[in-house]
Amino acid sequence: MAALHRLLNITGVAFTFLCVISPHIASASKGGYWPAYSYSYFPPSQINASLYTHLYYAFVDVDNQTFQVGVSVENQQSIQQFTAQVQTNNPSVKTLLSIGGGGDDSIHTKFAKMAADASSRKAFIDSSIALARNYSFHGLDLDWEYPQDTTEMNNLGQLLSEWRSAVQAEATATGNDPLLLTAAVYFSHSFFVSDIVREYPSEMDKLDWLNIMAYDFHGSWEPKQTGAPAALYDPDSNISTSFGVQSWLDAGLPSSKVVMGMPLYGYSWKLQSAGEVGIGAAASGTGIKDGSVTYSDIRDFIAQNAATEVFDNTTVSAYCYSGLDWIGYDNDQSVARKAVFAKQEGLLGYFFWNVVQDTADWALSRTASDTWDG
Ligand SMILES: *[C@@H]1O[C@H](CO)[C@@H](O)[C@H](O)[C@H]1NC(C)=O
Ligand SMILES: *[C@@H]1O[C@H](CO)[C@@H](O)[C@H](O)[C@H]1NC(C)=O
Ligand SMILES: *[C@@H]1O[C@H](CO)[C@@H](O)[C@H](O)[C@H]1NC(C)=O
Ligand SMILES: *[C@@H]1O[C@H](CO)[C@@H](O)[C@H](O)[C@H]1NC(C)=O
Ligand SMILES: *[C@@H]1O[C@H](CO)[C@@H](O)[C@H](O)[C@H]1NC(C)=O
Repeated sequence: MAALHRLLNITGVAFTFLCVISPHIASASKGGYWPAYSYSYFPPSQINASLYTHLYYAFVDVDNQTFQVGVSVENQQSIQQFTAQVQTNNPSVKTLLSIGGGGDDSIHTKFAKMAADASSRKAFIDSSIALARNYSFHGLDLDWEYPQDTTEMNNLGQLLSEWRSAVQAEATATGNDPLLLTAAVYFSHSFFVSDIVREYPSEMDKLDWLNIMAYDFHGSWEPKQTGAPAALYDPDSNISTSFGVQSWLDAGLPSSKVVMGMPLYGYSWKLQSAGEVGIGAAASGTGIKDGSVTYSDIRDFIAQNAATEVFDNTTVSAYCYSGLDWIGYDNDQSVARKAVFAKQEGLLGYFFWNVVQDTADWALSRTASDTWDG
């Protein structure tokens, strides 16, 4: 996901979604993704599920021959336990099985192939429903990063139409509540790939809601200057959460289907000079870690180094520094402001990637939840 922002420019081209009443109405969504690779050190039983309404099991994969959704050998145990374990802490929390993920290009290639053909779409859809029901999940979440051209966007639309029909048919046949159907999407509804604009299809409204991945705007892949990884506002560019949210609303997606993403991690840089410490300051490379730094580790870094923490009111983001070490991230203040923003925009809610990165006392998950509840 990260490197994509170097390749993509953002555009505000609008189109209109056909409005379809979804059978499943959620009143609010406080979402959190749990990465299955963290099972050994952070089992689902450890999640404070009372701070969430929806928890996503991330991820299950698609077989590149059969196009069926399946569980890897190492995930067999955690997928069986997930729903029961998180519901121990919050019996009303709903769980969704997230399919795909950022990862490498092979995942994108599999999605593109699967969506291009009616029989592979059917294999995918039928197996996804069977898997969700088998393990007592309440829904399915598609994480295809990202359809790259008009054909792939059209095929995504076809997939979503057929998936919605199948989910409805299954609910009718079994008498169960229909499975929720959601997707994690690029932060803006359209973007450029090789100078050609790509727009998500109108069938996005077949979903119950969209999780807008409003993060990774800046990070270690831009070593020469510090940046706000998930700015709510950016006066100098369209790469911001507010722009992304607005682009989806301008495209005609009802605000009640938009869920705003927030990161529970930041990125670090090494400053060139202790005299220049703001967002956009000159940097000489990556800081304390190559790649993302969890919010929990950021709090430890601040405590152990007596780092200076700054809330930047322009971007609505935080940074801290100690000597030449600099980290950009979301803290209590920015998360609270973003939750207020989401509410003011009439959005369905917010979600975090990912829940295991919060502090032991669930600082940001709690701030978001409390702020949302007012
Ligand atoms: C941001 O998007 C708007 C359209 O929504 C466009 O007019 C403007 O030029 C863009 N700004 C930048 C800095 O790309
Ligand atoms: C989980 O969050 C709830 C709600 O804020 C709180 O009452 C409870 O103490 C938390 N549990 C843990 C183990 O942090
Ligand atoms: C399919 O996946 C297998 C296992 O990951 C891999 O070895 C193989 O190369 C893949 N085949 C194609 C056509 O991508
Ligand atoms: C359903 O779950 C059982 C128990 O884990 C497993 O043996 C079976 O293969 C699963 N079937 C499907 C379709 O996932
Ligand atoms: C922060 O920004 C908000 C909204 O842009 C503004 O209302 C507020 O006065 C600002 N606060 C400070 C301390 O500058």
